Amino acid sequence: MQATRIGELLTQTALDTPVLAQGWVRTRRELKDLCFLELNDGSCLANLQVLVPKESPLYDRAAGLHTGAALGVNGLLVASPAQGQRVELQAQALTIYGDADPNSYPLQKKRHSFEFLRTIAHLRPRTNSFGAVLRIRNHCAMAIHQFFQERGFVWMHTPILTASDCEGAGELFTVTGFNLNHLPRNDQGAVDFGQDFFGRPAYLTVSGQLEAEIMASALSKVYTFGPTFRAENSNTSRHLAEFWMIEPEMAFCDLAGDMDLAEAFLQYVFNYVLETGIADLEFCQQRIDATILETAHNIIQQSFARMSYTEAIEQLQKSGKTFTYPVEWGLDLQSEHERYLAEELCKKPVIVYDYPTQIKAFYMRLNQDETTVAAMDVLVPRVGELIGGSQREERHDVLLKRLQNQGLDPAVYWWYLDLRRYGTVPHAGFGLGFERLIQFMTGMGNIRDVIPFPRTPDGIDF
Ligand code: 4AD
Ligand code: MG
Repeated sequence: MQATRIGELLTQTALDTPVLAQGWVRTRRELKDLCFLELNDGSCLANLQVLVPKESPLYDRAAGLHTGAALGVNGLLVASPAQGQRVELQAQALTIYGDADPNSYPLQKKRHSFEFLRTIAHLRPRTNSFGAVLRIRNHCAMAIHQFFQERGFVWMHTPILTASDCEGAGELFTVTGFNLNHLPRNDQGAVDFGQDFFGRPAYLTVSGQLEAEIMASALSKVYTFGPTFRAENSNTSRHLAEFWMIEPEMAFCDLAGDMDLAEAFLQYVFNYVLETGIADLEFCQQRIDATILETAHNIIQQSFARMSYTEAIEQLQKSGKTFTYPVEWGLDLQSEHERYLAEELCKKPVIVYDYPTQIKAFYMRLNQDETTVAAMDVLVPRVGELIGGSQREERHDVLLKRLQNQGLDPAVYWWYLDLRRYGTVPHAGFGLGFERLIQFMTGMGNIRDVIPFPRTPDGIDF
């Protein structure tokens, strides 16, 4: 018999039918003449209640099971007399795939802290909180693809190994290519790790933007959705060494169009998850952060605030607040400043645009004032910077000067400069940090708890 996912069984209307359910035991309880097993298969938050009566020949085996055991149950799906569930499963046959030793299995009935769960990243997906976050992550990914596909964007797979530093910030992981069977040795016979990528420098990508610009120069509207890497040693609740980024890039588009897209995009994703993942969102609201549903509804109902960087500095200066980092025109906004603007001043997402040239990357388009660039960041309550984007410098001469001023070697960017020599066009795009979006949506405080396998300066377990 084919198994049915528990999410489907719980909404099934054809009752008194034989079914097969498979999953892991969350809890086991015995009443006077019954054994109850709560079975979960990750398809949804809710468990399927399995009943084994005392007179059943299965009773002893069922009563001997533990939290974490993997189980298949054949039985009759019947209407449940219990409150809070429509159906339950009367067991007729049990397949025990594997029990879990209660003396060592770390996930017991009580609630565990997220810090503790980080130490068992291989088991934490079995908890309610991580199940909910991982399903919301999946819904967001689907929403993102659907948003761009509906608008005619072409999904581009940009490389993970690159030869250039998109952000020019020097936060690159270098790639060393060597064959484990033929390790290079130095004169003393020690392994020489100084080899690079087939004789040339290579890095893990910090952003797919430059490659996306190539593609937008041919296909007009593209987006990337892939892993990116930053060798910044920031041990914060918002930084990962490996994170996923979504980067749309549009030809024939300016900064205003870029901001409009970012706003419509976030509204679409929130709307989608409110429709498809509401049970998991409600769980996060209850367990993680009591404000997330209100935030989600505000996102889709209200337009975002917009203000220039210069205005933002003025607002911060007259806020009367004491910040740890200085507020001064020309300095970058720190997370405390970003959060003040979104959380306290605007009480909703705010798009800050036209940043000082000196604090932004070489590719951002120089404004007429020559002191600012056509950059924009979407700042949101709790998380701070969620999106960073800009109109790109499409003028060859200006771009060349910007590269030189920032001490970057134009020879490395020859192909990027070529795009400005052949059919150059105003274009713009942005990057959304996927994990920051999941943090914002679920209320999770630490970015390590919204990605299945966090990579941070703490090191890598597996
Ligand atoms: O602002 P960033 O550095 O912009 C870029 O990489 C551009 N090339 C994007 C573009 O215009 N196509 O990064 C974009 C977003 C940030 O707003 C933030 O949400 C996220 O990526 N991000 C990180 N997320 C987790 N850990 C880190 N270390 C991150 N660094 C950036
Ligand atoms: Mg940024």
